[in-house]
Amino acid sequence: MKRTTVEDIKALKHIDRPFSTLTAYDYSSARLVDDAGIPLILVGDSAAMVMLGYDTTLPVTMSEMMVFVKAVVRGSRCAMVVADMPFMSYQSSVELALENAGKFLKEGGAHAVKLEGGERVLEQINAMVKSGIPVMGHIGLTPQSFHQLSGFKIQGKDAQSAQHLVDSAIAIEEAGAFSIVLEGIPEELAKSITEKLNIPTIGIGAGKYCDGQIQVFHDILGLDGSFNPRHARKYANLHADIVDSILLYKHEVETGKFPGPKHSIRLKDDFLKTIS
Ligand code: KIV
Repeated sequence: MKRTTVEDIKALKHIDRPFSTLTAYDYSSARLVDDAGIPLILVGDSAAMVMLGYDTTLPVTMSEMMVFVKAVVRGSRCAMVVADMPFMSYQSSVELALENAGKFLKEGGAHAVKLEGGERVLEQINAMVKSGIPVMGHIGLTPQSFHQLSGFKIQGKDAQSAQHLVDSAIAIEEAGAFSIVLEGIPEELAKSITEKLNIPTIGIGAGKYCDGQIQVFHDILGLDGSFNPRHARKYANLHADIVDSILLYKHEVETGKFPGPKHSIRLKDDFLKTIS
């Protein structure tokens, strides 16, 4: 059992089929994803929304993310674990970025970090890579820029913004990133960026031509009964399955069916007579 390495992920650029990656946030979900043989788990700051119930990814803190990262590292044996740098944990200075990325590797046990943005984070990427911290880039619909982008909006639809994304992707590769997430961009643009780069592109809402795909654990498993993002396909409807199971448990408790003899411990006959 060997952990996936940065070199393994880079090599996935050159195989003849796309690869899949997934988010996870806790010990149990990490075990499931790892058992399925997914080579890379992102502890995404989407945790802010799917684990903590916020409307955006902005509020989640380093210490909250650290709890998720440590749990995912404990729950996985083979997957590489990438820790997502939360909003304002890296933007304001290279020093802060290094300190926080270092914490994720040193205290959290993560194997790499991800950060959002193009040219404005190149210095941070460069400094991290020089310090031995593998970095995954992330451009396009970058959720931490929710307010600046005026919402969760597809990016790169006009020539200027498409060119900007191509330039950013190349600059991120040159800064030393080992892979890059392309989120919420047209698939032809994702294809063009994928062809221009030597590092793997990992798409979400970016079509089928990326080297790999990433999805949010809760989205593909249907864990939220009402949230159906267009970029995700539900491979299960766990929200309904889990609520049904809980209802059955509730019913069996209320009707005296559970716990039954199989779930209970019995004393030998007459034992109770021996104690007062
Ligand atoms: O936070 C996250 O889950 C992400 C992925 C969707 C790329 O950034």
